[in-house]
Amino acid sequence: MIKLCILGGGFIGRFYAESLIGRRGKDEVKVIYARREETAVRFAKDYNVPHFFTDMEAAIAHPETEMVIIALPNYVHEEAVHLCVKHKKAVLCTKPLGRTPEEALRMTKACEDAGIFAGYLEDLCYTPKFSKSLASVKSGAIGRVLWAKSRETHPGPHSDWFWDMEKAGGGAIVDMGCHCIEISRNFIGKDILPVEVMCWADTQVKPIDAEDHAIGLVKYENGAIGQFEVSWTFRGGMDLRDEVMGTEGTIWVNSWLRTGFEMFTSGNTDGYLVEKAESSSGWQFPVGDEAHELGYTSMFIDMFEAYEKGIQPQETFYDGYVVNAIIDAAYKSAKTKIWEQVKLPEWRGQTGLTKPSVFTEYDADHWLIKEELLPNGDKKVILKNKLSNEILEKVKMS
Ligand SMILES: NC(=O)c1ccc[n+]([C@@H]2O[C@H](COP(=O)([O-])OP(=O)(O)OC[C@H]3O[C@@H](n4cnc5c(N)ncnc54)[C@H](O)[C@@H]3O)[C@@H](O)[C@H]2O)c1
Repeated sequence: MIKLCILGGGFIGRFYAESLIGRRGKDEVKVIYARREETAVRFAKDYNVPHFFTDMEAAIAHPETEMVIIALPNYVHEEAVHLCVKHKKAVLCTKPLGRTPEEALRMTKACEDAGIFAGYLEDLCYTPKFSKSLASVKSGAIGRVLWAKSRETHPGPHSDWFWDMEKAGGGAIVDMGCHCIEISRNFIGKDILPVEVMCWADTQVKPIDAEDHAIGLVKYENGAIGQFEVSWTFRGGMDLRDEVMGTEGTIWVNSWLRTGFEMFTSGNTDGYLVEKAESSSGWQFPVGDEAHELGYTSMFIDMFEAYEKGIQPQETFYDGYVVNAIIDAAYKSAKTKIWEQVKLPEWRGQTGLTKPSVFTEYDADHWLIKEELLPNGDKKVILKNKLSNEILEKVKMS
């Protein structure tokens, strides 16, 4: 049994508690910290947590705190991590790890130097559909990954600090691009170096300094391309979709708006249905088990098992740092309007890769471009002469 302390009694703190409590799990939330006493008291009552604090250090230092879960706004992550290091408590931190790669690297190194367990709570890399897709990619089902796109859009976040560029570290890119970037990194390979980023970002609707809409391309050293699409101005709920294209196949995943569960209601109740639903009447798109569909339950299982076995979890602070470095290049590119290098002074993956040459030979003189069966039954092959570079076709009549 792991004794847990949650820092933050807001939106994600409560989601985490829902994922940890009431599932006959053996791990227990023993301590809650919230800034305001009424939030801490309500949280403690709702989730049967024996100790509540409005002093963060006291919560971390408490003898019943074995592992700390940081569910605080982005600008408080680093302070909370350093307090965990000071008190030698294992720590899990929500996304994004830092507001900048510098913050993220300091947090990563501080935990490594202190020898404390640290896990990055990137829930969307643990959803049932994502896990199955990743296993298929790793088994070679879609061949070499060429392009991995991930999209998260909704009508905007639920608390003031998200909209404050200084407190959040940016807008939709740092808030949701972090999910999309890590999803693509997993599909392309976490040991493949992200090289450069091209990004468009704009503030199209909201009266804020940060971007409320952005699209970015992340080029990897092996020639693969990652793509993220994020928006705080999207209408119609929350759109979570991933696409992966490989040399031998394709995966399309829709995790939220079209999951095979559709419901019509005249609006007889106006209770909560699903995260970021915009309406409580008409056609609705619920999900069966929200905490599980969003990856929270599998994420905590991975974290706790890794902690107990003394190994790294699937998502580490180092991953959070790489994501922050890609985001940093995206922000630069959005300003300069050119490809910007991803600066990773601390890179632990492969280096020196090039785009593989994997042409299929048709015969000694030709490369095969493609084969196609035509409507009239003819078989056509399109070829390229290896020496002259001439493109030609051969037709085998039916
Ligand atoms: N899918 C996900 O993994 C996911 C989803 C939502 C939020 N998050 C992340 O979780 C973190 C918290 O977001 P949230 O949605 O719960 O926000 P929130 O505003 O709902 O809750 C934040 C909590 O922190 C407390 N707090 C606010 N300012 C503080 C300060 N200066 N010092 C100490 N405590 C403070 C608030 O009182 C509140 O209890 C953010 O980093 C966010 O990016 C992750």
